[in-house]
Amino acid sequence: MLKTQWIWHQGEWVPFEEAKVHVLTHALHYGTGVFEGIRAYQTPKGPAIFRAHEHYQRLLDSARIYMMKHSHTVPELIGLTQALLEKNQVANLLASAQMDSVYIRPLLYVGYGAMGLNPGNNAVQLMIAAWGWGSYLGDDGVANGIRCKVSSWARIDSRTLPPLAKCTANYANSILAKQEALINGFDEAMMLNVNGMVSEGPGENIFLIKGGNIITPPPSDGALMGITADTAVTLAKELGIEVSYRSLVRDELFLADELFFTGTAAEITPIREIDGRVIGAGGGGPITKAIQAKYADLVRGRCSSHADWLTGIAD
Ligand SMILES: Cc1ncc(COP(=O)(O)O)c(C=O)c1O
Repeated sequence: MLKTQWIWHQGEWVPFEEAKVHVLTHALHYGTGVFEGIRAYQTPKGPAIFRAHEHYQRLLDSARIYMMKHSHTVPELIGLTQALLEKNQVANLLASAQMDSVYIRPLLYVGYGAMGLNPGNNAVQLMIAAWGWGSYLGDDGVANGIRCKVSSWARIDSRTLPPLAKCTANYANSILAKQEALINGFDEAMMLNVNGMVSEGPGENIFLIKGGNIITPPPSDGALMGITADTAVTLAKELGIEVSYRSLVRDELFLADELFFTGTAAEITPIREIDGRVIGAGGGGPITKAIQAKYADLVRGRCSSHADWLTGIAD
């Protein structure tokens, strides 16, 4: 982690090392927090936050699912994020290549007050931090693909924890799957839902390519409505590739021509092997590479379309 200097916490700027909470913070005990992961990249016009509006709308949607009491709005949260990047001199960090991109982490959480399962009137607190974070699944993974294993842990289900909310509690499920994959010598897990359908990775959406078409599981199979996934769908369509949302069984993964993960942290990462079966030629296939290249151009402002997806510090 490449730290920055300041964090926005509980309504003020706090030095990075001093952004602390009480040990009886409700969210620490019961997972009552919702968060986002956003990236800002260097563009010809300076640093730009990628799809800030969609990320903050999803944050507020997550808070709505959990009936969290707060008064934050999307424009206010975007403004705070711009101020955070400004205060941390992210323009210099990116321009001097100290960071390739900046990872932004907003968190709304139920704070210190009453304990017990009812979050009641405990104040909902906001934190927004930023740091330098490279490719989540490694540069080699992005270039040459990663090895995955279908997890013995099923993805959470709407009857247990709402998968469409990015709630901190969900990530206990993701962590179990991730740990299992790493212990067994794989790079990442692939999660099925409780009905045995392919859902997603612990922190990534899954895309399958077969016969030149793209298929990705729908939210009804427990997949988070990923913003990178939506971006990949848009880019694929622009490349003339047909995209459909439908349920996938595990076997279809083995027979795929190409597989890739999408996520703000993982960006576009090819999967070269699943459960010991090599996918395609064993690296990123041509469609994955084409979408990867378009994505890299888009987030870095090298693309003439979708300028509205980039929010500069001063916009
Ligand atoms: C469970 C899960 N699925 C998918 C994603 C990818 O979503 P996005 O592309 O919006 O980052 C994430 C990351 O936020 C995630 O945590």
